[in-house]
Amino acid sequence: MDTTEESKRKEIERAVNKIFSDRKAKKKFIRGKTWIQYSGGVFDDREINASIESLIDGWFGLGRKAEELELGLAHFVGVKGSILTNSGSSSNLLAIASLMSYFYPGHMTPGDEVITAACGFPTTVNPMVLYGLVPVFLDVTPDTYNIDANNLERALSKKTKAVMLAHTLGNPNEMDAVVAFCKKHNLLLVEDNCDALGSEYDGQRTGSFGILSTQSFYPPHHMTMGEGGAVHYNDLRFERITRSLRDWGRSCWCRGDDKTMNGACKSRFNYRVGGKPYDHKYMFNQIGYNLKPIEPQAAMGVEQLKRMPSFMKARRKNFARMYGHAKRWEQHFILPRSLPKADPCWFAFPFTIRDEAPFTTHEITMFLESRMIQTRPLFAGNITRQPAYFNVPYRKVGDLTNADRVLHNTFFVGIYPGLGNEEIDFIAESIHDFLPKKT
Ligand SMILES: Cc1ncc(COP(=O)(O)O)c(C=O)c1O
Repeated sequence: MDTTEESKRKEIERAVNKIFSDRKAKKKFIRGKTWIQYSGGVFDDREINASIESLIDGWFGLGRKAEELELGLAHFVGVKGSILTNSGSSSNLLAIASLMSYFYPGHMTPGDEVITAACGFPTTVNPMVLYGLVPVFLDVTPDTYNIDANNLERALSKKTKAVMLAHTLGNPNEMDAVVAFCKKHNLLLVEDNCDALGSEYDGQRTGSFGILSTQSFYPPHHMTMGEGGAVHYNDLRFERITRSLRDWGRSCWCRGDDKTMNGACKSRFNYRVGGKPYDHKYMFNQIGYNLKPIEPQAAMGVEQLKRMPSFMKARRKNFARMYGHAKRWEQHFILPRSLPKADPCWFAFPFTIRDEAPFTTHEITMFLESRMIQTRPLFAGNITRQPAYFNVPYRKVGDLTNADRVLHNTFFVGIYPGLGNEEIDFIAESIHDFLPKKT
């Protein structure tokens, strides 16, 4: 790089630093006037400069930064490998597509059943529907928002091939029981870890128990790439299967910046299509997609991953502080519970209004929103109640009473690292102000 370019790059870097330090200096929380988001990306000049560097380099396709991030993520989660994607939803789609791939021995076929939770985010379930699999919905417990692992046997049928579970709002499922169930019945286990990066069960990170697991890097999640995601694998066969499905279904496994003439396989021109030699770069052996992010996003992700220890600390601290406040209101709310072996890295703080409480979800969330405190329902609530699923073939176990309560009575507020004590205390004070006082 010539010196003029280098000094111009430095100028840009300094300008970005200044923008962020000015913003930081001006940042002030004003009660009732500053939005308290349910979550959001926390980043500064480090992420932006890393992305800009990569943009100026002029290499948009996945390259060195993507490789660095994939290795870092695999190490962080404790899996054999990671593949970057453009979203958590894409990651779930790829996980299911990979388990339907004829390159995977024991792959699933349409009509097979996948046990999952009735409450959660739609794109945990959608790939099953799109691939002709049948979701089997289990109810959740009222306070963990995850399934009760004791009920897994009730969901089993001759057609069951897999279990796919999200760790709801970062709260780990009972992984020893889930893994034992899958082993006993020879089932594939997929974890939707989109809301749970950094959570642990029995000292092991969630996302590392399944044959595949998924991550979202949409800004509200534990770290962000703007948009983005990853599929983690514990079976090396998915390095090729899943990456190929992500990259148009092509059979070539060269990395984006591989410029050698004969490619990673060293025999790029020795393949045959239609009986004649054909360039392996454009040989397609799976029905694939293009679900890649771009290198500037990966550059941002590398910086974010470095911050995960501080993000995790902040989420846990904020959760504990909110819980300390919330204990006073147990007569009105079911408070979140994690299992004895779980150490959640919470995504948000859920409240479930007790059936006998003298107020509605609508009333309390309107009140909080009027004070600029963002609230959200627990995603789709009981997903079988959502219009998109009315004509979808599924099976359910029991009458999903708790899922219905989540649909109508649960909302969550923020505890993400962008919030400090002042904001958490203001949320608590506002809930307190709303609640009916004893006469
Ligand atoms: C559990 C879960 N899975 C998947 C997703 C989808 O992630 P994305 O928004 O990156 O597509 C979300 C979204 O927030 C989620 O909460």
